[in-house]
Amino acid sequence: MTSLASAKKQVIDHAREHVWPHQLPWNVQAEQEGLKIFASGKNTTLVDIDGREYLDGISGLWVVNAGHGREEIANAMAEQAKKLAYVSSVNFTNEPAAHLAHKLAEIAPGDLSRSYFVSGGSEAVETAMKIAKQVQAMRGFSRRYKVIARRGSYHGMTHGAMSLTASREEKWFGPFMYGVSSVPAPNRYRNDFGLEGEAGDIMAAKYVEQEIINQGPETVACVIGEPISSAAGIHVPSPIYWKMLREICDRHGVILIADEVINGFGRTGTMFCMEQMGVTPDIMTIAKGLTSGYVPMGAAVVSPKIFAEFENQPEVSMGHLLTFGGHAVAAAAALANLQIFEDENLVARSAEMGVYLREQLEQLRSHPSVGDVRGVGLLQGIEVVKNKETKEALKKTDTFCTLLGKKVLEKGLVTRTWNIVHFAPPLVVTKDEIDRMVAIVDEALTETEAELPHEIEG
Ligand SMILES: Cc1ncc(COP(=O)(O)O)c(C=O)c1O
Repeated sequence: MTSLASAKKQVIDHAREHVWPHQLPWNVQAEQEGLKIFASGKNTTLVDIDGREYLDGISGLWVVNAGHGREEIANAMAEQAKKLAYVSSVNFTNEPAAHLAHKLAEIAPGDLSRSYFVSGGSEAVETAMKIAKQVQAMRGFSRRYKVIARRGSYHGMTHGAMSLTASREEKWFGPFMYGVSSVPAPNRYRNDFGLEGEAGDIMAAKYVEQEIINQGPETVACVIGEPISSAAGIHVPSPIYWKMLREICDRHGVILIADEVINGFGRTGTMFCMEQMGVTPDIMTIAKGLTSGYVPMGAAVVSPKIFAEFENQPEVSMGHLLTFGGHAVAAAAALANLQIFEDENLVARSAEMGVYLREQLEQLRSHPSVGDVRGVGLLQGIEVVKNKETKEALKKTDTFCTLLGKKVLEKGLVTRTWNIVHFAPPLVVTKDEIDRMVAIVDEALTETEAELPHEIEG
C-alpha cells in the first residue's frame, strides 16, 4: 500500500470507528462507502478524500454563504487567535466582538441593536426564549411563560429549542418544555384551511391570535417563527402575515421572535428576510451565515425596548451564560465574512442568482413527480409528490426519495433530497454551476421516475 493509500485508509477507519455523525444511521456508516469524508473546498465546490469534486447545493447546511476556501476569513481568524483568542464573556468582551455587535446593529432590521453572542442556532433560540421569559417577568408578568411556535418548524435540537421543533421525538426525549403550543404555518401548496394565496396566510396569522386568546394572553411570553421556514417546506408568506403577527403580539403584550438562523445573511435576497416582510421583531436569532461556518457562532439580537428592562433594573442580569459567547476568533471571522459580503455585493448577488435559479427550476415542473417549485433568493426547492393531482405527499424515507438522493449525490451534487430537493448554494454560485445543479437533479428525476414508476402516480 502506498503511503497515500494508507493515510486514506487510516482516515476512513478513524471516522468509521470513532466519529458519531449526527444523524447517519449506523447501517449506512458501517458500509464501505457509507460515510463520505470531505477534504477541501473552494467557492461552490467540495472535494472528497478521493479527489472527487461535488457541487455544494446547500452551502453545507445553509451555512457557507460566502463560499468555501475564503482566505480572508482564515487569515482574520489566524491573526485574532495569535493576538487574543479568548476572554470570558461573563463580565468582559473583546475588540472584534464589540465591532461585530456594532456592525450587526447597523445591518439588522429596524432598531435591533444589542447582541447576546452564543455558539450556534439552537443556543440562539434558547437564549431568545429565555430573554423573552425573563423580560416578561421583569415587566411584572411572571406567569407569562408559554411559547407559541408553528407546525413544521425547526428551531434546533437542544432540549428547549427542540420543544419548539416539529420533528421533536417524544418517544426518546419527552416530556418536552411545558407550555409550548404549535399553530398552522403559511402554506400555499397544501393550505391547512383550504384557502388559496394570501387568504391562507391571513388565516394562519389570525390563528396565532386565537391561540394567544385560548391560552390566555396573560400566560403567553412569546411567538417564534422563521420568516420562511425551510423545515416546513420553504413556503413564502405574504408580508401581511408578519405584519399581522407584529400587531397581534403588540396587542397582547407578547414578544415576537424571528428565527433568521437560515434566512439571514443574504440567503433570501436581502440581508435579513424580515426586511422583505417589512417588520422588526423584538428579538432576532442568527447563526450559520454569520461566519459562513468558518467557526461556530450565533446571537440573539434584541431591540432597545427589550434591553430597557435591564437598564430600568440595573442590578438584574440575564440568568444565562455560555462560556464561548462572543468568542474573539469567531467574531473576527464574522467581521471578515461581512466584509466579503460588502466587497462582493453578495446580498444583491443572491437576489439576482435566485431569479436565475428559479427560472431553471421552473423547467423541472414537467416531471411527473414534481408537484411544486418554491422559495425566494437562494433559498429554493422543488417538492416531489406521489400524485400531482391530489398533491399526495412523499415521505423522506420513501424509496423514491432515497433513490433520488443517492443518484443526485452520485452525479456530483451535495444537497438535501427528502420530499423537498433543496437548492441553497453559496451566494458566490455562478450561472454555470446553477445549470449543472439543475441538470443533475433533472437527470436523477428522469432515472428515478423510470426505475420506480409505481411510486409515482402523477
Ligand atoms: C431556523 C433554525 N433555527 C435554529 C437552528 C439550530 O441551529 P444549530 O444547528 O446551529 O444549533 C436551525 C438549524 O438548522 C435552524 O434552521
